[in-house]
Amino acid sequence: MVKITTICCIGAGYVGGPTMAMIALKCPHIKVTVVDISQPRIDAWNSDELPIYEPGLDEVVKACRGKNLFFSTDVAGAIRESQMIFVSVNTPTKKTGLGSGKAADLTYWESAARTIAAESKDNKIIVEKSTVPVRTAEAIEKVLKRNCSDASVQFDILSNPEFLAEGTAISDLTAPDRVLIGGKIENEAGQAAVDALAEVYANWVPKNQIITANLWSAELSKLAANAFLAQRISSINAMSALCEATGADVAQVAHSIGTDSRIGPKFLNASVGFGGSCFQKDILNLAYICECHGLKEVADYWYSVVGMNDYQKSRFVRRVVSAMFNTIRNKKIAMLGFAFKKDTGDTRETPAIDVGKGLIEDGAQLAIYDPQVKEDQIAYDMEGMMGNITCYKTAKEALQDAHAVTIMTEWDEFKSYDWKEIYDVMQKPAFVFDGRLILDHDHLREIGFIVYALGKPI
Ligand code: NAD
Ligand code: UGA
Repeated sequence: MVKITTICCIGAGYVGGPTMAMIALKCPHIKVTVVDISQPRIDAWNSDELPIYEPGLDEVVKACRGKNLFFSTDVAGAIRESQMIFVSVNTPTKKTGLGSGKAADLTYWESAARTIAAESKDNKIIVEKSTVPVRTAEAIEKVLKRNCSDASVQFDILSNPEFLAEGTAISDLTAPDRVLIGGKIENEAGQAAVDALAEVYANWVPKNQIITANLWSAELSKLAANAFLAQRISSINAMSALCEATGADVAQVAHSIGTDSRIGPKFLNASVGFGGSCFQKDILNLAYICECHGLKEVADYWYSVVGMNDYQKSRFVRRVVSAMFNTIRNKKIAMLGFAFKKDTGDTRETPAIDVGKGLIEDGAQLAIYDPQVKEDQIAYDMEGMMGNITCYKTAKEALQDAHAVTIMTEWDEFKSYDWKEIYDVMQKPAFVFDGRLILDHDHLREIGFIVYALGKPI
């Protein structure tokens, strides 16, 4: 088995950056180089202001950068000197052509594979870190083999999907529930490649938590994991609508069912909808694969998880409008939080985008405050709507003279605000729409707010 001392990762994003920083931290004997085509992103990784906000990441990067962790745009050079190459490029939903709006766009992956093929002069272990459709390794192997000028170069392809969640990336990477490695375990070279990667992780992950599988199982397990996680949220969100109609309380229902050890308590928080770059994209990708295999009923089942999420966002908008006497035209509505979850500045597919657009379509003036999201990101996400949006650097300014406040992200600081003071500076009647169920609703009602909380008795 080859002993790994040089690793590179193509793609310095939310996954490539933190995962490689963790490998560098735990494996001081391995030189890790993270490469990207984006010069600004690499510059940021080499600066004091990293390109992503992630608790604990700064410390890990600072401990290794310049020692055994390097960030560079020299993709070709890093490929040439590395024994093991992770590919962690983006795999978004296709926007045009066959499978548009559903299938994964593998353009970036294929381009990375072509560069690997062109630059490789000796054997390489290629690790799929990106989330990809099942059987992508087969396609990538063809691209690699047929584009490498030296026929003696051997490529061993592994699937090593990443399960970290943003906001908790460092703790997830430090103590993962499991590490999954898929490879061609039926042949000797494939098994040796799996063993080589397993040995890297064994520097800090207990061996019984390093699971091996065949390539296709590993690729599909990643899509399945995200689909199951998202399905739980859509299920509890579906319950939240029924709770509001019947007087049941979704938090009590979640607690009651979560104590059944077969169901478990995690991932049962009703919300204004799940966001993030992956749940929707991966479910659509999974459903599309099902469609391609003629499994229409299976595809429809998974599409309904996304459909429920869309329903939850539009239901929230309708609730705001109807509660505020069916008119929000020119009313200042404060949006606390814009990121798709707390402890990240990431806004990809954040429910705040769809809710914000819905409110603006009804004429609202949005006042947005998020502790981590910058104004230019909001302007990018809300393109064409900035005439109806003002971004604020403090919640206090956003709330001044507002008619209503909507909680879009569960940032801890929102819970510690003095809500009496906030009430005093808002227009009356003052409304709170809690899309994350983080506030003390009884206390808010005592103060005088009209409160709407998802899935709670009104
Ligand atoms: P990202 O967009 O943050 O980063 C991808 C990076 O790849 C970008 O910086 C881009 O410039 C770079 N890139 C694209 N093509 C390249 C090329 N040919 N050569 C060099 N660099 C190239 O994406 P991400 O959030 O890190 O996600 C990466 C993959 O990991 C996706 O498949 C995603 O589904 C999966 N994933 C993401 C998360 C998450 O929390 N974000 C978690 C698990 C898995
Ligand atoms: C998710 C998975 O949790 C990771 O395991 C996976 O690696 C990753 O996707 C990926 O493939 O990208 P992430 O999207 O970063 O991670 O964050 P989550 O904590 O899963 O939250 C996703 C969305 O669901 C957020 O908008 C969050 O607020 C929402 N959510 C989560 C709920 O509405 N309720 C819950 O109970 C949990």
